[in-house]
Amino acid sequence: MNIQWYPGHMTKTRRMIADQIKNVDAVCEIIDARIPVSSRNPDVDELTAGKPRLVVLNRVDQADPEATKKWAAYFRTKGYAVLESDAKSGMGTAKFSAAIRELLAEKLRAYAEKGMAGRVVRVMILGIPNVGKSTFINKIAGRKTAKTEDRPGVTRSKQWVPIDRGLELLDTPGILWPKFEDQSVGLNLAYTGAVKDDILDIETLGCHLMTYLGTVYPEALQSGYKLTVLPEREQQENDVAYGYRLLEAAGRKRGFLISGGDVDTERMAKILLDEFRGGKLGRFTLEMPE
Ligand code: G4P
Repeated sequence: MNIQWYPGHMTKTRRMIADQIKNVDAVCEIIDARIPVSSRNPDVDELTAGKPRLVVLNRVDQADPEATKKWAAYFRTKGYAVLESDAKSGMGTAKFSAAIRELLAEKLRAYAEKGMAGRVVRVMILGIPNVGKSTFINKIAGRKTAKTEDRPGVTRSKQWVPIDRGLELLDTPGILWPKFEDQSVGLNLAYTGAVKDDILDIETLGCHLMTYLGTVYPEALQSGYKLTVLPEREQQENDVAYGYRLLEAAGRKRGFLISGGDVDTERMAKILLDEFRGGKLGRFTLEMPE
């Protein structure tokens, strides 16, 4: 499997971050709460040069709530501030300013002591495609952007989007690349729709996803596909072979049959991925903290 990423794009992003990092006080890294490992960029530590970091676990509405709690605790122990959000509905986004101020509490206190209490705090937003960066930025910036900038006499540079008094964002997020050399990362990005299906045949993708769900969330498969019992995984059976049997069982229940009574497993795989992405099967997290 090979996920295409353009070297030119990577160079451009690296350059943008290198140019701007000195102008920001903190970095906000948005990740997908369903795949907190696969949706992180491998080079972000190096790129952000030790700036204080807020990790936004976005798409919590689609993730397993218990797993999200564990992930939030995990990132906190690593020294990051954490915000859980569903940028689509706006849940959690109102806490952004407070989270940044808490992250920078010491620095802000030091400014206050030096009589610079009104100094503007600036934040850079980073993330791989499809984690919800634009949606998140739109929610936290609202319409204030245009209004403030349109006011005559306001000399604020167009590059910075005001969030509230004293807090600004770099106007465009840094679009990072995923860790695409890893096969499981590729699968996770494909399940969640972050990369196009055509990187892998849909049936194989469906087999892998079935195996994960059958192993970690068997009840969801049972209720989603009205299976009283799931087929047992046989010893030595690999993910694709077991997933295929699960696809067959689900497809048979749905009546997806082809000539000779065989199950149309390709059709079932498409349905599985659609239902997974659409949240019809439930809320899932595909990676757990170590
Ligand atoms: P990006 O900038 O990081 O690439 O992501 P973007 O904000 O464009 O979001 C990609 C898709 O994910 C959008 O859906 C957006 O609505 C959705 N999305 C973003 N955050 C969340 C979230 O927390 N929960 C859920 N459930 N969805 C989220 P779309 O189908 O492309 O657009 P639309 O139909 O929603 O307008």
